[in-house]
Amino acid sequence: MEAKTLEALLKEERVFSPPEEFVAQANVKDDSLYKEAAEDRLGFWAKQAERIDWFQKWDKVLDWDNPPFAKWFVNGKLNASYNCVDRHVKTWRRNKAAIIWEGEPGDSRVLTYQDLYREVNKFANVLKSLGVKKGDRVTLYLPMIPELPIAMLACARIGAPHSVVFGGFSAESLRDRINDAEAKILITADAGWRRGNVIPLKQNADQALQECPSIEKVIVVERVGEKSGANMVEGRDLWWHDLMKDAPAKCEPEPMDAEDMLYILYTSGTTGKPKGVVHTTGGYLVGVATTHYYIFDIKEEDVYWCTADIGWVTGHSYIVYGPLANGCTTVMYEGSPDYPDRDRFWRIVEKYGVTILYTAPTAIRAFMKWGTEYPGRCDLSTLRLLGTVGEPINPEAWMWYHKYIGRERCPIVDTWWQTETGMILISPLPGVTKTKPGTATIPFPGVEADVVDDNGNPASSGYLVLKSPWPAMLRTIFRDPERFKNQYWSRFEGIYFTGDGAKRDEDGYIWVLGRVDDVINVSGHRIGTMEVESALVDHPSVAEAAVIGKTHELKGQAISAFVTLKEGVEPSEELAAELKAHVAKKIGALARPEDIFFTAELPKTRSGKIMRRLLRDIAEGRALGDTTTLADPSVVQALKEKYEEKS
Ligand code: WTA
Repeated sequence: MEAKTLEALLKEERVFSPPEEFVAQANVKDDSLYKEAAEDRLGFWAKQAERIDWFQKWDKVLDWDNPPFAKWFVNGKLNASYNCVDRHVKTWRRNKAAIIWEGEPGDSRVLTYQDLYREVNKFANVLKSLGVKKGDRVTLYLPMIPELPIAMLACARIGAPHSVVFGGFSAESLRDRINDAEAKILITADAGWRRGNVIPLKQNADQALQECPSIEKVIVVERVGEKSGANMVEGRDLWWHDLMKDAPAKCEPEPMDAEDMLYILYTSGTTGKPKGVVHTTGGYLVGVATTHYYIFDIKEEDVYWCTADIGWVTGHSYIVYGPLANGCTTVMYEGSPDYPDRDRFWRIVEKYGVTILYTAPTAIRAFMKWGTEYPGRCDLSTLRLLGTVGEPINPEAWMWYHKYIGRERCPIVDTWWQTETGMILISPLPGVTKTKPGTATIPFPGVEADVVDDNGNPASSGYLVLKSPWPAMLRTIFRDPERFKNQYWSRFEGIYFTGDGAKRDEDGYIWVLGRVDDVINVSGHRIGTMEVESALVDHPSVAEAAVIGKTHELKGQAISAFVTLKEGVEPSEELAAELKAHVAKKIGALARPEDIFFTAELPKTRSGKIMRRLLRDIAEGRALGDTTTLADPSVVQALKEKYEEKS
């Protein structure tokens, strides 16, 4: 972000107090929760742990004797699926809607807690019958259909960690994630729907499975049918509906230790290889249930809709585990916001009477561009609270959301967190905290976040860090504890480094500015520059590639690639298009570069390191930063001139 806009941001003078009517009914109305947590942080979390049903109570809140390896709720025994399903069917909630699902073509399904209980039990038995045991990993590569949360909860029920791979990832990305997790079973669908098109999930899966020796069986949900183009491999592939027909109705939930693994979720980091973020059971469930309850001000009668895909952490924590642990009604939508028309989200709000909406700044920017007629023609009067997540929200987008969606009645919670944090860590409490457009405001009670300088000292501008453990924190990187230590805990002694840059304003509010490492945030999705670079150099014409995130009006950041070609290969428009397609095929469409710039040389330090920072300066049209460490400063000057000529 440019210095100028940043200054403007920090002088943001629009301050919004929680509306009176909202405060009157809010779960928290004053600063009591903050005070309580400040006086006794662990006591606060111990109290929150009572939201969860434990088969055996824990005997210590936190064991931090061997940092950075935390243990929360030591010796506690519980089961996540029991907490999300069984305990609700024992009450009147049995016939409350657990999941309201809307398919892209217009079909819909409502699963009550009782329905969910039945499906989860049966599918848990299916997994058992295929030999899945506690500790075995199961990979899920599914569209946004009810079978996805059912399968997740069934895995949790028998203690088999799930690894959900976003349906937009390519065959190769799926293969790498299956192999890293050494998954035994893959659950996929014949295909998925997106903007009316068929997404060939099963075909991708078949391609991936050519190199996945650990997979024994593939379970296939029939979503699209004839048009899917899916083939079943005999002896390996089984239809979900066939398996479910005769599955026994009851499956006892496995008593899990608080620290047993609940799931792995892969996310991009600063190397080419995605990291398998490990979340465990007890602390995670306490963390997501507590934050979901307070930040979204959950009431029994709410219809809550988080628009994320379950393939990302937001869906794990705030479509599945948080809402269901709280016995909430959670809406799930399969498709795209502009199908069949650009009012689809608002039609869904109207159709189901959604009261709480949680979405991403990139979506809000698209809605702004499409215009107010789309929300304008729908009844949004049921909405009472709005949320955002995934990237910094620009104040204009915040104001638009406030005015045209919230109709100036609904508080907005801008929530900062990460795949690694598992739960929201910085956010307003909607009945308490005054909001300003563009800031996630202050840490959640019981969370110690700070902004520090290069030496780890508190500063008004620098790096966002977390100074003490929190319940839903990642416990390690799957099978790579060294990487866990180096990645997060080595930059500052005993402190978790988030990878984000941040500022603190005079009210103590934290303004997260975005990543300071080699991670790009495209439409709220994390992509590592190295992953895209590896995909580019995999192409036979490419000698070397450097990838950066360039500020983009709608996507937040867009991927820009600087590419040098091999001897004898000539740059051309066709080749640029081919390289973009190559990246999309290797990683997934989300990683397709926005633009490719061919150059004879890349700016490098004397030790040969590519200076991406300077490439960003070039791409964003800024004056070049410090070039004194370059081996040959004339390279970057020439590159800048050529780039400007071209654009
Ligand atoms: C960014 C998504 C500013 C940040 C839950 C973080 C945000 C990364 C916000 C994590 C926010 C997320 N304001 N930036 N409210 N929320 N980010 O792992 O850079 O997909 O480090 O988790 O998104 O992305 P991830």
